[in-house]
Amino acid sequence: MRVLRLGLLLALASGFAAICIYITGLSDLSVYPSYHLTDEEAQSLLSLHDSFQKCVSANGLGLKAASGNDYCQTTISFPGDTIPKWRDPKTGELEALSFDFNLCEAVATWEQRDPKTGELEALSFDFNLCEAVATWEQVRNSTTILTKEFIDSLPNGWEEYAWRRINKGIQLNRCENRTLCMEKLSLVLPETPPYFPRQYGRCAVIGNSGDLLKTKFGKEIDGYDAVLRENGAPTQNYTEYVGRKSTFRLLNRGSAKALDKVVELDEQRKEVLIVKTTIHDIMNKMIKELPIKNPVYLMLGASFGSAAKGTGLKALEFALSMCDSVDMYGFTVDPGYKEWTRYFSESRQGHTPLHGRAYYQMMECLGLIKIHSPMRADPNRAVKWVPSPHIIRAARIASEKLLRRVGAGSEDPLHSCSITKKQVKRNLDAVSKLRKAALDHIRYVKRATMYPLEHSLGHGLLCTVPTD
Ligand SMILES: *[C@@H]1O[C@H](CO)[C@@H](O)[C@H](O)[C@H]1NC(C)=O
Ligand SMILES: *[C@@H]1O[C@H](CO)[C@@H](O)[C@H](O)[C@H]1NC(C)=O
Ligand SMILES: *[C@@H]1O[C@H](CO)[C@@H](O)[C@H](O)[C@H]1NC(C)=O
Repeated sequence: MRVLRLGLLLALASGFAAICIYITGLSDLSVYPSYHLTDEEAQSLLSLHDSFQKCVSANGLGLKAASGNDYCQTTISFPGDTIPKWRDPKTGELEALSFDFNLCEAVATWEQRDPKTGELEALSFDFNLCEAVATWEQVRNSTTILTKEFIDSLPNGWEEYAWRRINKGIQLNRCENRTLCMEKLSLVLPETPPYFPRQYGRCAVIGNSGDLLKTKFGKEIDGYDAVLRENGAPTQNYTEYVGRKSTFRLLNRGSAKALDKVVELDEQRKEVLIVKTTIHDIMNKMIKELPIKNPVYLMLGASFGSAAKGTGLKALEFALSMCDSVDMYGFTVDPGYKEWTRYFSESRQGHTPLHGRAYYQMMECLGLIKIHSPMRADPNRAVKWVPSPHIIRAARIASEKLLRRVGAGSEDPLHSCSITKKQVKRNLDAVSKLRKAALDHIRYVKRATMYPLEHSLGHGLLCTVPTD
């Protein structure tokens, strides 16, 4: 048994390395003969780039996108006079010099001073559009809440996965005592997903940037169907700027450990709390003893590599898995920013704001989100040159093939499932109240639930399908 497991691990590790090399190799066509695109597929990716570049120029406040040397790569550049302000608190280095990037994902480059002229060149970031379009479109059809059904369906889910979601899980000896493990997770582990793709119409994700105090977005934000906030962001005393409504709150480890303080931020005590990391004994104790009545769940995210480590991207991922449209406030740094601040506390440093801004611009120009900021304050601003749904769909399918994703190009809605599990229990009450778009989607996927599988080869999903 043990030998088998080791063998599997080795196979997985070498397979994963091969994929990395493969994807990295895409940027160098001479080395890798990669998947042969049909003319139509190639055309769809060229159309995507064309629209994308126009979109970045039209909406990016000075950002420019250029194609790389293959069908996937794009480089987003800042104007030459942009000065990076963010320093890595550990190394003291300026932003982008210190990025530790997963080569399978986006690659960041900081073109340094020209050795001859000594001039600072444009700050630029390379992104893989194929990866982005294939992965984010998949997020829209996946569930991003950890459930018992998921752990039960994962081969060796309790031994290999469950303990990783428990703080100090390592001491549980891979859930040797499963009862104990289930006990620790029980307060945050629903049987089946509490939310569905397209359950909400318009959603807003609110970051914590000090920029929020420059524009009174409060009324506008309260008009959304669902509002997602982060960590300790207050609304009291700031409602003019950030609104009052709060449906979800995404918590990092530090905020989750102060759960008692976090729940006080929402006077209604109705906010749903989503913990990004692990469940901690302190949290369990507070949920039971205070008691905390808000629903608390753990997030199950897709992996975007280090390009998407921050709470901001996780919040967008969560919103995109439930909402028709996602608008974002309070994340961006506008040209000429002096320092990254929080709206409710003094000059607190965010992380890699320029990289974040480039990544969000990419997402806006893939039609995933709409960015609101003091310099884009018109609520009715139309994002110009967003690639049409037709182009996105064709480019997504071509990308899936190029990246050798599970089930690439198939007509079957369950094409990307690499693990399929029959599931008896269904929460039909929750489904009956859903809006039409969500019901249509459920019908389209034949009532299956799709979960992202971290580090899965070819980005396959785990799917549960009803038996009845
Ligand atoms: C497993 O954990 C449960 C719950 O904490 C405990 O009651 C039980 O004694 C444990 N079993 C073993 C074999 O340690
Ligand atoms: C709002 O302002 C009042 C009065 O200054 C203060 O007591 C309260 O703590 C503030 N609330 C928050 C959440 O900052
Ligand atoms: C997601 O679901 C929609 C239907 O709701 C479908 O049109 C689309 O192709 C699906 N996307 C992926 C990546 O499977």
